[in-house]
Amino acid sequence: MIPRLAAAPPPSVRVRAPGKVNLALRVGPVGDDGYHPLATIFQAVSLYEEVTATHVAPGTGISLTVSGPQADAVPTDETNLAWRAAVLLAERTGLSADVKLHITKGVPVAGGMAGGSADAAAALVACDALWEAGVPRPELVELAAELGADVPFSLLGHTAVGTGRGDLLTPAMTRGEFHWCFATQRKGLSTPTVFRRFDELAGPSTPKVAPTDDTAIMHALRAGDAVALGRALHNDLEAPAVDLRPELAEVLEVATESGALGAVVSGSGPTVAALGRSRQHALALGAAWTAADVVDAVWTATGPAPGTQLVTAIAR
Ligand code: C5P
Repeated sequence: MIPRLAAAPPPSVRVRAPGKVNLALRVGPVGDDGYHPLATIFQAVSLYEEVTATHVAPGTGISLTVSGPQADAVPTDETNLAWRAAVLLAERTGLSADVKLHITKGVPVAGGMAGGSADAAAALVACDALWEAGVPRPELVELAAELGADVPFSLLGHTAVGTGRGDLLTPAMTRGEFHWCFATQRKGLSTPTVFRRFDELAGPSTPKVAPTDDTAIMHALRAGDAVALGRALHNDLEAPAVDLRPELAEVLEVATESGALGAVVSGSGPTVAALGRSRQHALALGAAWTAADVVDAVWTATGPAPGTQLVTAIAR
């Protein structure tokens, strides 16, 4: 008699992609395309989204599940950026979009830390590997930019200067490790809403952006000088985010009073990032926020962190 073998699990690929904080975010006047030109400095941090792509029978299509903190706030249909990434990659390669995707959230949801963009970057890399599509890196970066302004940075990781919509990237030199604590709110803020509020507050006089404004940050990064970096953190979207969510002012204040080297709204918010002197100090900043009862959750992380990476290549 032939012994019955257990069915082998279908091939799958696991990929992880980091969230980010904007060390500087300068916003210019809105263009005809509805986007604002940006001059930004991204830093990837050690909070990761993980996407597992599993083989399914041809013609099955795409399915998506999500787990982890705040997973219930994430859509599991074709509006999810990871789903859109799989569709886009299939379209461009002429392959059939058949895949089972699972996202494990590790980046705060709708918090201005590009968790959704990390999902898109991870899904692109995962499907490319699972389908053995072999799309060259520069083309993956182009597809990433089509999916969202922050997606190319999630592929690249580390620290980078972003111009254009934030999608034209130049890696930045850094030394050492920076210790962050993030304060999140259960209710996210919508990026387009924050940009609209920026327009309303800034009026027609918004100056053009120039990346040279942020030489202090570039110097601080090169020197590994957390004190100088903390002092120079800047975000033009902070005022509109605080205007839409006035309680963020207190979150920023508590961080400053607790000795943070700097505190700033991350991206379009509502997450607030505080820079600590050490890992221990970052934990203490989180404890101060919790004690003041001004946040829903605190997360500590270090930066810079690597970009999108295969954790497990095709496992059969
Ligand atoms: O590119 P992404 O989908 O992340 O952007 C979401 C929205 O945020 C855009 O539709 C636009 O309204 C706004 N946005 C902007 N300027 C940018 C990036 C985003 O106005 N540079």
